[in-house]
Amino acid sequence: MSKRYTITAALPYTNGPIHIGHLAGVYVPADIYARYKRLTGKDVAFICGSDEHGVPITIKAKNEGVTPQEIVDRYHKIIKDSFEEFGISFDNYSRTSAKIHHDTASEFFKTLYDKNEFVEEVTEQLYDEEAKQFLADRFVIGTCPKCGNEESYGDQCEKCGTSHNATDLINPKSAITGNTPTLKETKHWFLPLNKHENFLREWILKGHKKDWKPNVYGQVKSWIDDGLRPRAVTRDLDWGIPVPVEGGEGKVLYVWFDAPIGYISSTKEWAEREGKDWEPYWKDEDTKLVHFIGKDNIVFHCIIFPSMLKAEGSYILPDNVPANEFLNLEGNKLSTSKNWAVWLPEYLKDFPGKQDVLRYTLTANAPETKDNDFTWKDFQARNNNELVAIFGNFINRVVVLTNKYYNGIVPTPSTFTAIDEDTLAAVKAYPAVIESSLERYRFREASQELMNLARLGNKYLADEEPWKLVKTDEARTQTIMYVALQIASALATLSEPFLPFTSAKLKQILNVTSSAVEMSWSDISTKDVLLPANHQIGQSELLFNKIEDKDIQIQLDKLEASKKANEAANKKVEPQKDTITFDDFTKLDLRVGTIIEAEKMPKAKKLLVLKVDTGIDVRTIVSGIAESFTAEEVVGKQVTVLVNLAPRALRGVESEGMILMTENAEGDLVFVNPDTTVKNGLQIS
Ligand code: MF3
Ligand code: ZN
Repeated sequence: MSKRYTITAALPYTNGPIHIGHLAGVYVPADIYARYKRLTGKDVAFICGSDEHGVPITIKAKNEGVTPQEIVDRYHKIIKDSFEEFGISFDNYSRTSAKIHHDTASEFFKTLYDKNEFVEEVTEQLYDEEAKQFLADRFVIGTCPKCGNEESYGDQCEKCGTSHNATDLINPKSAITGNTPTLKETKHWFLPLNKHENFLREWILKGHKKDWKPNVYGQVKSWIDDGLRPRAVTRDLDWGIPVPVEGGEGKVLYVWFDAPIGYISSTKEWAEREGKDWEPYWKDEDTKLVHFIGKDNIVFHCIIFPSMLKAEGSYILPDNVPANEFLNLEGNKLSTSKNWAVWLPEYLKDFPGKQDVLRYTLTANAPETKDNDFTWKDFQARNNNELVAIFGNFINRVVVLTNKYYNGIVPTPSTFTAIDEDTLAAVKAYPAVIESSLERYRFREASQELMNLARLGNKYLADEEPWKLVKTDEARTQTIMYVALQIASALATLSEPFLPFTSAKLKQILNVTSSAVEMSWSDISTKDVLLPANHQIGQSELLFNKIEDKDIQIQLDKLEASKKANEAANKKVEPQKDTITFDDFTKLDLRVGTIIEAEKMPKAKKLLVLKVDTGIDVRTIVSGIAESFTAEEVVGKQVTVLVNLAPRALRGVESEGMILMTENAEGDLVFVNPDTTVKNGLQIS
């Protein structure tokens, strides 16, 4: 078994914060794996950083009227800080705008260039005459030649995952101006993937034998079977790493060429800081390289990057690429632009100290083999029914009883019964059980095994009932509590990869943070005594708290607000109505009025009963605005009133007129009123 692991997590783009989709797909499983490997004594480099080049960042900068550097600086900080607070234990989090990365990527390019691994070619590329710019990647949108998706990007179709050249798109349109691009000649360097086809085929087959996930293997095999073609690895753009060879002026490296090299430069940065040698982590055959990614990254990590590494010649290849499927949210696709997401910085603010609850929910429900759905109800249930009721409850009972009966001192056991023996043997078997799941990248299964250990503890206590025996059988009670404390101690260590904050707290409670009593993963199966008799533990402290309905409702309301805002944004502007005459118009008697009283119409969700001073009189108007306003809010508001609308009864209340409303960007009703205070009764004409 390898001793050294280089574990990478996809470098996030710095054009927005991290959301639960990223966490469930990439960062939580990667962190569990890295923590587990460290616990089993492996030499781990857990590597990540910000992916700061690429077209989306320049587009966002343009939209906001700031420089791309300002965008990446902003999000790099937000992303890095939130990962840290969430407990993702990267050994290094770098960024691709760092000098060490520019140097590393340039050098990598030059090496391939010197080895004649590129094909240099002048070809016709898409060009936007109006923007005076070549169009590649996300600057161009068109129909995917493979699946027919009409909104494919120039380099990748998000629907079917296919990676292609911008010129392959059917009906391409510039994302900048909307124009149909023309073709213009330009020189680029291409990585001839076709040349690497045989090697890729063999390598993938080998990977398959090693049990790559079927979704990963299947996708890669189908791309290879479709035939691979040269891919341009340079671009005519000004944001990125300058092409470091002659003729490369004004061009930059393709973002998907430089970003994966970011794993290498981040490793270098880490090694420099730690006084280590980075090379074994990337070049020693004994190192296992594992890439954690989402499914849209498969082609880049299983075809393009390995071809680059192979062409360079001195690097190892990934041992596995455990890509996950996607996570949905409350039944809909996660979307940054639609604000349909749970953003990590917001979660950390709304649920302080509850990092482990989200980690656990995302793991227990991870999109490992198919897309999966995150719901707030499930989040609440996982917390209340599993973390609180099983894990937390077991620990609390053990710690409270130990303090109550023995002042917190681990009692000395007497003879073990068969049940005790079985229970202790079952505890010893857990590391192997969890390990077997983790080694196959089955994190949900592993998390459930961890919970099963807590269940075992609960069942043991419930069956043995020390709280009854304490009155009659002192020796037996001591034995039971001793066994229960061994389970608690095993949980403290085995939970570390999954619930690192809880594990730390539990170790504190059990007073096992000093090296004399601290345990490694394997100690649990090899040592007979995990928590020795006479060891002093601390006071009980709740590991988890119930999450109330109202906290969940706040989150659901946020999503509801996003939904409404999207509906408002997507609302079609109605076509113009039939022409009317000026006389028709003058029939409408529109006045400025002021709402002077308001109350909710009983048993009607939408209706407020208003008293409006129209300048002519004070009259009653029933208005369907109760979902957007409370009665108190509207009192004193100036409004526009259609005063000569024929009166009609609404729920038995006579309504004498109508208040003019429209909708704001959030989809809420708003009043149409004069932009300054006006005398009531003045006409609108
Ligand atoms: N930024 C890419 C994404 O979010 C992932 C880059 S992974 C790397 O999809 F290998 F290029 F670093
Ligand atoms: Zn497609």
